[in-house]
Amino acid sequence: MTFEEARAQFPMLERYAYLNAGTNGPLARATGEAVIEQTRRDLEHGRSGMAWFERVLELREAARLGLAAVLDADPLHVALTDSTSRGCSIVLSGLGLGAADEVIITDQEHFGLTAPVHAAGVRVVVTEADEDAIVAAVTPRTRLIATSHVLWTTGRRLDLRRVREDSGIPVLVDGAQSAGAIRVAAGEFDFYTVSAQKWLCGPEPTGALFVRDPEQLRVTAPGYLAQTSYEPTGAFAPKEGAARFDSGWLATPMLLGLQAALATHPEWRYERAAEQAARCRELLGAHVDVVTPAGHSTLVSFRPSGDPAELVAALDDAGVIVRELPGRNLVRASCGWWTSDEDLQRLAAGIAAAA
Ligand SMILES: Cc1ncc(COP(=O)(O)O)c(C=O)c1O
Repeated sequence: MTFEEARAQFPMLERYAYLNAGTNGPLARATGEAVIEQTRRDLEHGRSGMAWFERVLELREAARLGLAAVLDADPLHVALTDSTSRGCSIVLSGLGLGAADEVIITDQEHFGLTAPVHAAGVRVVVTEADEDAIVAAVTPRTRLIATSHVLWTTGRRLDLRRVREDSGIPVLVDGAQSAGAIRVAAGEFDFYTVSAQKWLCGPEPTGALFVRDPEQLRVTAPGYLAQTSYEPTGAFAPKEGAARFDSGWLATPMLLGLQAALATHPEWRYERAAEQAARCRELLGAHVDVVTPAGHSTLVSFRPSGDPAELVAALDDAGVIVRELPGRNLVRASCGWWTSDEDLQRLAAGIAAAA
């Protein structure tokens, strides 16, 4: 597939320089049509009966397989979720931690991770977002390190393999800004949680959670599809592997849409996305203070000379979509494999005009 063919899958890219996959990726025509196709089937033929239920189960397994491929993981270790945040909650509640336990996070995490850590009732240790600082914060009471692979603020990528090795502590990775954007090997970690609506361009809400040792994590929010048998008391036999953590029913049209979305990504996606992020850094560097280090991720965050919200609004008026990072005086551009040179030039021209 050529770049032009691959990009042509996304109707909105004909109109906009869309640089916000860090929030939600662009939707491909095939993805939207798949959602509509399943909705139409359900409208015309209903949502019950053995054949329908078997189709739902097949779609779930296809989604698990597709997401496992993105994570370079065995599907047996992958749970279907609706979001990155859900994966964080499943892990934090399942570990059964208490007030005497410490969990290390960094000062650059998203609420989707910090909130489940806080809600677990543990002692939260906040460090600078730096590998050495994280490892230095470990004490005999540390039970978990919970941090992002790619920071949603600065776009910095953390070497979490090193953190895992040097600390010897289980790591929960927030992969919201990595899955689909950079190559991921979830098996290097204990838990890896991702969203599919961002860099994977899936419908929302969809996501996945990799669990290296499913038997060691408690099932704290069992859905009907988490079990193989149950008693009138509610006692149940969990499914084998990570499927026991599946976060309940996922909308069937979204499952078909996700399957279509996962098929839109060309083989060269990671290389091209990295190239476009590098080009973006270079172009913006002439106008603003770029804070994302070179070669880290597909996010390019920068400090504009004026008000970030005003700049985002002015760019929006010009059909260039980026986002502001509230409270940080930063604007963030997300560069995907679908990003064209023209998109980046439109962004740079908009910034120059605003200055
Ligand atoms: C680093 C990070 N973690 C978590 C989330 C939340 O993702 P979700 O809505 O899939 O829970 C985001 C969303 O932007 C994010 O950037």
